[in-house]
Amino acid sequence: VIGQAAARHVLARADAAMNRLYGWRFNPLYHSGAIAAAMFLILLVTGLYLVFFYRISAPYPSVVRLAAQPWLGAWIRSVHRYASDATIFAVAVHAFRMFAQNRTWGPRALAWITGLLLVAVVLVCGWTGYVMVWDVQGQVLAQAGARLFDALPIFSEPIGRSFVGERRLPDAFFFLNLFVHIAVPIGLGLLLWLHVSRVARPGLLPPRGLLWGGTALLIALALAWPAPLGPAADLLRLPPRAPYDVLYAFWLPAAQVWPGWAFFAATLGASGAVLLVPVWAKPVPSRRPAPSVVDERLCTGCEQCFLDCPYEAIAMIERTDPKGHGGRPTLVAHVDATRCVSCGICAGSCAPMGVGPPGRTGRDQLRRVEQFVRERQPDADEVIAIVCDRAVPADQTLEGATLYPVTCAGSLHSSVVEYFTRKGVGGVLIAACPPRDCWNREGPKWLEQRLYHEREAELQARVDRRRVRLAYATAGSAAELRAAVAAFRADLQALDRPRGEAEVDLIAACEPAEGS
Ligand code: HEM
Ligand code: SF4
Ligand code: SF4
Repeated sequence: VIGQAAARHVLARADAAMNRLYGWRFNPLYHSGAIAAAMFLILLVTGLYLVFFYRISAPYPSVVRLAAQPWLGAWIRSVHRYASDATIFAVAVHAFRMFAQNRTWGPRALAWITGLLLVAVVLVCGWTGYVMVWDVQGQVLAQAGARLFDALPIFSEPIGRSFVGERRLPDAFFFLNLFVHIAVPIGLGLLLWLHVSRVARPGLLPPRGLLWGGTALLIALALAWPAPLGPAADLLRLPPRAPYDVLYAFWLPAAQVWPGWAFFAATLGASGAVLLVPVWAKPVPSRRPAPSVVDERLCTGCEQCFLDCPYEAIAMIERTDPKGHGGRPTLVAHVDATRCVSCGICAGSCAPMGVGPPGRTGRDQLRRVEQFVRERQPDADEVIAIVCDRAVPADQTLEGATLYPVTCAGSLHSSVVEYFTRKGVGGVLIAACPPRDCWNREGPKWLEQRLYHEREAELQARVDRRRVRLAYATAGSAAELRAAVAAFRADLQALDRPRGEAEVDLIAACEPAEGS
């Protein structure tokens, strides 16, 4: 897709740089969606304070009084202003990230489209917020808005006339503006709920350190540089030069110069192109990964895939064929193909290997690893690096290790790791994306728990954990991954030479026992 490869390259560089600065746990780029949601909370809290002091009958003087309050007013107003700017930054990074990672189409299209609506709502909020202040910037924004409205066949009297001349603007205007500024965030809350309605356990808040660190930064900024306030609006004079917030007033030059219809045509065209990303970014049917399928003969109804699916695409339903699993009427997993993004994480969840996208189930993974070992005959000195193909590009080599790419480290069935170790390879290093950067949301989180915390479909206790290592890697951090391999090799040196088993048949161990 045009631009996506370049966007991925930029993102990989930026992520790697931020990881070096903050570490992957606190990399703000990974938490951009959650940061936007957290800013929304900060805006609500600070807005609630500000609204007590705002007067629709004397808007500008009430803001001047607020800005002059030495203890709370001055900095709460500034935090409100800076948090609204931070929202735009965070949303831009978040949307860019989703675009670069092609998380836009299929079941994710709803999030994409509601995301764009959220942006529109945020911009309207910013616009009405600045008009509320009724300084020069507010006046210019209101006049530009009125001019645009007048281009639409809505009002019989042009409303732009209200903004010129001697007549004072009616209180009703400021009331309506305030009403929109407060009502719109309620719509924003509803939209946000819809936005994350297809993801399980949405991360709506960034990690605590980032949340408090970010809040402290906003407060420090507000104390050091209180938000500017322009000269009072004056409808009798041409507006003087005043500071504008480019993040919210970027459309002003076009709105002031272009005819209304041209402005609307450009806005509609640009929004339409972005809105249609889920259509044009969708792979052709032959390249589209198929949704997961459940093999009801193997499913024991354990519910693990239902618990692990990051997209709530699995439901547990009554078996229609009670004889299907040893004659016991139980539940069986059922995949809703319209919600499944084909991430394969359920394949890693299912101990009996009964679910997963076609060709990527636990059974398929075991067949692949058997063939790999048969053909390559890895020896006791070899380190196998099972790498997520998002973290390590397919054309890359890795010094000191043999690459074994998988589509998501979270989809890896632990029996693949067991197979490698029982066949006597020196060690298995699994390189996954950092947990908050998983393109499938929760892959590395479940992988880590399956390897080290006995989450169901766990790596068996008999596997020597000293020969298994988990590393987090990103496309832009090849050097760090090389260092992780070198450190792992050095640790492996201290161990005895592993002895491989001639026959390892893990698939047979997973067959349901006859008549059980
Ligand atoms: C106020 C604005 C926004 C907020 C607060 C927000 C917040 C979030 C949050 C918290 C998630 C869940 C992340 C997770 O737990 O994995 C999410 C998912 C998502 N967002 Fe946004 N978002 C906003 C705007 C946007 C925009 C503008 C777009 C793109 C046009 C977008 C696209 C998406 C997509 C596609 C997902 C789903 C990711 C997936 O399913 O893998 N969002 N958003
Ligand atoms: S994890 Fe496997 S066995 Fe358990 S419910 Fe899902 S498909 Fe069935
Ligand atoms: S592949 Fe499995 S885990 Fe991933 S969305 Fe589909 S059902 Fe859920």
